[in-house]
Amino acid sequence: MKKKTKLFIAGATGFTGQSLQRVIVDYPDFEVRWHARPESQHKLRSVPKSEHAIFEWTHERALLEELERAHVVVNLLGTTRRKSRKDLLGYDEVDIALTQKLCRGINVHRDRHDTERVRDAEELDFAKHEEFTHLIHVSSIGAGLPVGPYLKAKQRAENIVRESMLPYSILRPSLITGNAYEDLRPRYSALRGISKGFAEWFWNEGARALIPHDVEELARAILNCAMLPGCNKVLKGDFLRLNYETLKEHFEKWILEQPIDTNAVHDHV
Ligand SMILES: NC(=O)c1ccc[n+]([C@@H]2O[C@H](COP(=O)([O-])OP(=O)(O)OC[C@H]3O[C@@H](n4cnc5c(N)ncnc54)[C@H](OP(=O)(O)O)[C@@H]3O)[C@@H](O)[C@H]2O)c1
Repeated sequence: MKKKTKLFIAGATGFTGQSLQRVIVDYPDFEVRWHARPESQHKLRSVPKSEHAIFEWTHERALLEELERAHVVVNLLGTTRRKSRKDLLGYDEVDIALTQKLCRGINVHRDRHDTERVRDAEELDFAKHEEFTHLIHVSSIGAGLPVGPYLKAKQRAENIVRESMLPYSILRPSLITGNAYEDLRPRYSALRGISKGFAEWFWNEGARALIPHDVEELARAILNCAMLPGCNKVLKGDFLRLNYETLKEHFEKWILEQPIDTNAVHDHV
């Protein structure tokens, strides 16, 4: 029987996370743990072959237990919209600090498993531990541009991922949109029109990366990536619209191109 890939989704209660909860039914090879803070657990739906992981981000032990199980971690955390008046935390506390927490938490287990693997190897028991294969970090188009605190924070979070030495893929969507029922942000529909118009006006690869991403299309891109090991690349624009087979071909090429120190190269697609 084919082994299931175990996913841990951080930010499962957000706009993209809720779309992932809907499309996951088309991906039977995943076993998913959806994380929510206690106050947001009502945003998790009941999905087959999935479980909810409800705890505060300050609950280190619970987080480490989740990360120990996971083969793939998806990071959708961000402060794109203020949840309530009392939720005053910003980029430093969420986008940056929680990305750091995830990377450190995954690395705790990798270090321990490496030590155990040496011991196990002596006992000719190589297959005892399952591998962590991929951190999928959802960032934003424009990350790193010296414009505004949001994009600067997104770059800092990306740097944390790169420096973690974990196998990663960084996804940089443009504006994420959905239908009117899901996306209740009126100013976003205006922005969607502007960025789409701009992209179509300058019809080249750079501008195409600004075309808004449908939230379901992005959710599928994330799950397609989750079936593959980290490629240590930044994916944006049309790379987030590829079907699985084509994406797989790209990943195989990128992974083969990498030097032995797989984390030494961080070029963009
Ligand atoms: N939306 C866009 O148009 C867009 C465009 C480009 C890139 N992105 C990036 O893509 C990623 C996903 O976007 P999204 O629109 O799906 O995000 P979202 O709906 O704003 O959801 C963000 C997630 O972060 C969590 N979060 C927010 N504040 C938190 C806090 N103080 N403490 C703990 N968790 C907190 C939320 O949990 P709670 O439900 O518990 O609050 C939620 O699960 C983000 O990194 C975003 O920056 C978004």
